[in-house]
Order: sequence, then C-alpha cells, then structure tokens
Amino acid sequence: MLKALDITTATNGHSTTALLLGSGELGKEVAIELMRLGIKVIACDRYAGAPAMQVASAHAVLDMKDKNALRELISKVQPDVVIPEIEAIATDVLLELEKEQGLRVVPSAKAANITMNREAIRTLAANTLNLPTSPFFFASSAEEIHENIDKVGFPCIMKPIMSSSGKGQSTLRSESDIEESWNKACNEGRGHENRVIVEGFVKFDREITLLTVQAADGIHFCEPIGHHQVNGDYHESWQPEPLEEDVLLECKRIASTVVKALGGFGIFGVELFIAGRNVIFSELSPRPHDTGMVTLISQDLSEFALHVRALLGLPIGRIAFRGPSASAAILGQGEGSSISYRNLDKALSMGNDCALRIFGKPDIKGERRLGVALARANSVTEAVEQAKAVRDAVRIEIKSEIESIKEA
Ligand SMILES: Nc1ncnc2c1ncn2[C@@H]1O[C@H](COP(=O)(O)OP(=O)(O)O)[C@@H](O)[C@H]1O
Ligand SMILES: [Mg+2]
Repeated sequence: MLKALDITTATNGHSTTALLLGSGELGKEVAIELMRLGIKVIACDRYAGAPAMQVASAHAVLDMKDKNALRELISKVQPDVVIPEIEAIATDVLLELEKEQGLRVVPSAKAANITMNREAIRTLAANTLNLPTSPFFFASSAEEIHENIDKVGFPCIMKPIMSSSGKGQSTLRSESDIEESWNKACNEGRGHENRVIVEGFVKFDREITLLTVQAADGIHFCEPIGHHQVNGDYHESWQPEPLEEDVLLECKRIASTVVKALGGFGIFGVELFIAGRNVIFSELSPRPHDTGMVTLISQDLSEFALHVRALLGLPIGRIAFRGPSASAAILGQGEGSSISYRNLDKALSMGNDCALRIFGKPDIKGERRLGVALARANSVTEAVEQAKAVRDAVRIEIKSEIESIKEA
C-alpha cells in the first residue's frame, strides 16, 4: 500500500517534486492542482512553451520516448513522483525504475505501460479479466488481416496498437478497404512495429467515460460523462449521462475490475459503449480524460484535483456534483504562431454559468484543440447548447510569424 506523501517546500534543499511527463492542456490543469498543494512541478514535453510548462516551476524539453533521455532526466530531477500525462513515453524505463529504486509512478508503471498499447490492455480486459469487449484480433500485415477478417466481419474498425485521438484509425466496409486502412495505420501509428487491432464495429446507442478514482479511501466514481466523437476525436461531452440503475452498476463493475487490475492511485477515464442494456468495455486512460474537462465546471473537485489528491495518497471523501454541465472543444484550423481569441465577451454571455479555458498553445499547423468552452445549466441539453454557443462565438485569428512581425 502506498503511503501518503508528506509535502516539503525548501529554499535550500529538496522540495517535494513532481515530474510531469506531457505538458498539454490536461497536464496544465494537473500542474495547477499540484502547485496549489505546494508541490514543485517540472513539466516535460517535446517542445518548449507547452501549456503545462507555462504554469510549472521549471520545464524540460525532451523526447520522452527516448529511454536514455528519460532515464537521465529522472536521475537529475530526483522526483518524488512521476506523472505520465500522455501515452507516448518510454514506459519500460518507468517499470525498471519503479522496480529497482521504488520510483513512484502514477498510477503505477504497469498501468502506464499496459494502457499505451491497445494489444496489452485489450488482452488484459477481454482474456484475463473476462470483460465484455467488441470482437477483435491483432495483425502485423495486410495478409494476416485478410486471413482473420471473418472473426469480426464488416463494418469493422482498424487502429494502430499505439496511437491516440483517433490517429491512424479507419472504418472498413468491405475487403477492398483493407489495404488503404492498413497503410493509414502504418503511417499514422506511433510504435516502431506495424501492428494493428481490428475490432468489430459496435452499434452503440451512447458512449460514456466513467471517471473512476482509486485512492487511499477506496474507489470513487464521478457521474457518467456522455460524449460525441468525430473521427475518433472528442467534440462535446456532458455530465451526467443518465443510465438505468442496472446499466450503471455494470459500468461500475467493469471500471473497478480493470482499475484494480492495473493498480495504483489516481483517476482513470474508463471508456464504455452502451448498446441497449449491454455495457461494452472499449479502452481507458490511467489519467484525466479529455472528455472529463466538463468536471472543471460540474464538480467541486475536478478530475484534475481528484487525480492529484489520489496520487498523493490522500483521501477523496465526497465528490460534490454541481449540476448538469457540458464542455465543447474549441478547435483551431490553420498555420501560424500568433493566435488571437476574440469576441470573448459575447461568448461568455451565452449563459449564467459559462467558462472558458484557453490552453495557450504557442502555435498551430493544421487542426489543433486550442481551448474548451464550459457551461452549467438546468438540463444537460441546455448545458450542451450553451457550451456549443460559447465555443461558436469565440473567434480565432491565426497569423504567421512574418505577419505578426510586420504588424509589430
Ligand atoms: N469497435 C468500435 N465500434 C464502434 N466505434 C468505435 C469502436 N472503437 C472505437 N470507436 C469510436 O472511435 C473512438 C476512438 O476510439 P478509441 O479506441 O477510443 O481510440 P483513441 O485511443 O484514439 O481514443 C471511440 O470513442 C468511438 O467513438
Ligand atoms: Mg478513446
């Protein structure tokens, strides 16, 4: 059992230090929650100026998939706790250091290692834990896919075993789609090897994230979060998604089974499909979930605050829910390194309980999530409408470096 961490702030000497591996928008909120408790945060990412670095005590720029670089950084920083905030990390280094030196990894090195790989987490859930999932198989060549496709039938979904946010994912309608999907998965996946999971298409009515906190005082659940995905990327989420009592119980059973198997303290975003009264396990994040940003307005302790409390070995107590709420991702499109957000006054007058987070991403190339609109209202429908209205009212202007220098 992990002990609660004592927190020391020292002028000359070692302050309690968290090494945040991944400095995106979710990491930024985690960093803020850590700093609120007096913890020194070193934020890492592959580029400078990342959102969490802007609020951290110090930062490091490195390729976190590089084993030597990661090992070196950990030995230099001597963190009290390492908090992975993305999947693309050399998690084998974390496994080794946890074992050799008792390095404290959130929620556990095993959880970070297994969940970064669809093959490992799906095998654990379906084969070891016997949880209901879509039919699936793994393959390392287009040939192997042709040979096994009857196991799942059409339509089906192909995904690289290592990828996130829908990257490299495609839906196949017939045999003739196999080559194209295979090439897409190979090009957009993040692993060294070309390997995919092919899953039978689940005709779900709804999909939810069940935020599940494993903490010193046991397992806690947030209200279920419903969400809408476009091409494997989240656009809106809302809370609570109403579920029949037996369906909710089944969701909780699945979530606690997988979370206990992974071990460690922290929050997990358990993704489930609901088809009629059936609940199907899809995947999970051993950390705050993007659809869970709605908790920034819906709960007294957001998913980020809950994560930090849990990972420090502190009790959660009661999670107070404030009422029907929604989030809408603010997506930017274009190329440039000066991004302006306008019309915010109009945006924030779309309802009485609206809020915005602007992530402060330093630049954009293509489509990028730049912020999130939040709303709380009398019903989920109203909250979703308001969050979308806030999002749609924000005007984003992107300028290239040359354009902004000319103007200055
Ligand atoms: N087997 C499936 N059947 C139907 N829809 C799916 C299936 N797998 C994934 N999806 C859709 O694609 C989205 C992204 O897939 P997911 O496995 O969660 O990948 P990622 O790690 O990129 O989030 C899901 O939220 C869901 O909307
Ligand atoms: Mg997902």
